[in-house]
Amino acid sequence: MEIKLVEKFVKEELINDCTGHDFMHVQRVANMAFKLKNQLGTGDSEVIILSAYLHDIIDDKVVKNTEKAKKLLIKKLKFWNIPTAKQDQIFDIIEHISFSKNLKEKYTLPIEGQIVQDADRLDAIGAIGIARAFYYGGYAGNPIYDDNFIIRKNLTEDDYRNKNTVINHFYEKLLKLESLMNTDVAKLIARRRTFFMKQFLDEFFKEWKVNE
Ligand code: ADP
Ligand code: NI
Repeated sequence: MEIKLVEKFVKEELINDCTGHDFMHVQRVANMAFKLKNQLGTGDSEVIILSAYLHDIIDDKVVKNTEKAKKLLIKKLKFWNIPTAKQDQIFDIIEHISFSKNLKEKYTLPIEGQIVQDADRLDAIGAIGIARAFYYGGYAGNPIYDDNFIIRKNLTEDDYRNKNTVINHFYEKLLKLESLMNTDVAKLIARRRTFFMKQFLDEFFKEWKVNE
């Protein structure tokens, strides 16, 4: 497998992204997934790296036509000479990895998928997570904060894409990710990043109250 070809394809597919799911996000996820895999000492490297690079390119928040994106990806995987069994593993992972698709029922991913899911979720928290949340909020037209919006307790897939404030997104999702990590190595990294987000929120509300 020629990873440079995969990188080039993904870069082209995500070139117009302005939701925080650009090539740099995908590359951070691939690097983190590789690090987690080495620490755990398990998982198929090729499946992990390919799933990490490809995890956002058939997602409806990034591409308009998901069926078309899937067909193109199947063609590409064949062209890159990825064996059929591995193609199936990759599809199984990238079709079930997202937070919103696991709200109703948790899908059991193979270890390679668990690693990529942890890496993706680590990129949603900490300093980078804060930056991405506000970037996405701007794209979606969501306010920074407004206490007329309530924090929803048990999110459904529909709720998830409905309007709310970026600050509420921390309470509805981002602060919960630490306990949802599949692997202990990711949980440890998540702990530090979650602590940092809590400090940020404390500071945010201190400043907010001065204006009340
Ligand atoms: P997943 O791919 O796991 O379903 P998303 O793609 O929906 O997750 O979210 C990825 C990142 O986009 C989040 O971690 C966050 O940074 C940002 N994001 C998604 N929804 C919102 C939202 N309502 N408000 C702020 N940021 C959001
Ligand atoms: Ni992602």
